[in-house]
Amino acid sequence: MGFKPVVVVHGGAGVWRGLDLDMGAVVKTLKEAVMIGLDVSRSGGCLDMVVEAIAFLEDSGLFNAGVGSVLDYVGGVSMDAGVMISSGRAGGVAAVTYPRNPIRLARIVAEKTPHIIMAGPRADELAAKLGLEKHPGPHWRSVERWKTARLKPPQSTWIARRIESAKALGYDTVGAVALDSNGCLAAGASTGGVLLKLPGRVGDSCIPGAGFYANGKVAASATGIGETIIMSMSSLRLAQLYEIVGVLRDAVELTVREHTMRWGPGTLGLIALSSRGEVEASYNTEAMPWASASLGEEPRVSGLPIA
Ligand code: GLY
Repeated sequence: MGFKPVVVVHGGAGVWRGLDLDMGAVVKTLKEAVMIGLDVSRSGGCLDMVVEAIAFLEDSGLFNAGVGSVLDYVGGVSMDAGVMISSGRAGGVAAVTYPRNPIRLARIVAEKTPHIIMAGPRADELAAKLGLEKHPGPHWRSVERWKTARLKPPQSTWIARRIESAKALGYDTVGAVALDSNGCLAAGASTGGVLLKLPGRVGDSCIPGAGFYANGKVAASATGIGETIIMSMSSLRLAQLYEIVGVLRDAVELTVREHTMRWGPGTLGLIALSSRGEVEASYNTEAMPWASASLGEEPRVSGLPIA
């Protein structure tokens, strides 16, 4: 019991403007997610903390994950999620449609199967067989955004298309990192992916090292343009830079700076937590609402869009 539990969550990097969302509700929900993770720390470990915080964000319908997932080109919901703990155990699910909480299925992959990532209909079958709650279908807000986005002309390059759809959406993905009282670190991410994606597209949020990563020293969760995050393995990169520079703030900022030089602005956000309980976040988008607290503290929210 030598460590003070800490939880950090984010609601996605993006423009966060012109949204049909109550930002007061976004702030309240992020704070509640942190409190849920910290409550869980009294009886559970870092994986429980991350999974419960993310499941709460998935359930809220306010973010692009779980119930609030954006729609693909043909109007379907398909989701990616993943978790990892500092022991090296990891699990992810890709392009799943069945579970309300893909993060719970990712946990099952990590803990109960010999695999790292399970995908598509077979992963959905597993969720159904294990009695996970079924996704309720597209949220009305997601349907409205899909209708509006379908009217816009397509962009010329994939990255322009992706940035355009991030702007149309305004945000992207949820994530969490946690430190428990035993010093175990965990990281996780969950997403509905990209608005108007081709059905079958898989992003970074189910890939250890890309959308999330945890080792004995640091846990990180990424948000942004999945294709760029996969190519740069952003969460692993942060851990590598932390190993080299030894200062969490510098490692987080360097990871985002490198990413911006390679892929341009509007592509990445990161939250990170060290085994010493240090918390950092950085992003090259206009905003990335995030919240954090250690046990016994009130959660603080940062990264809100400038009004
Ligand atoms: N960062 C989430 C995605 O691109 O799927």
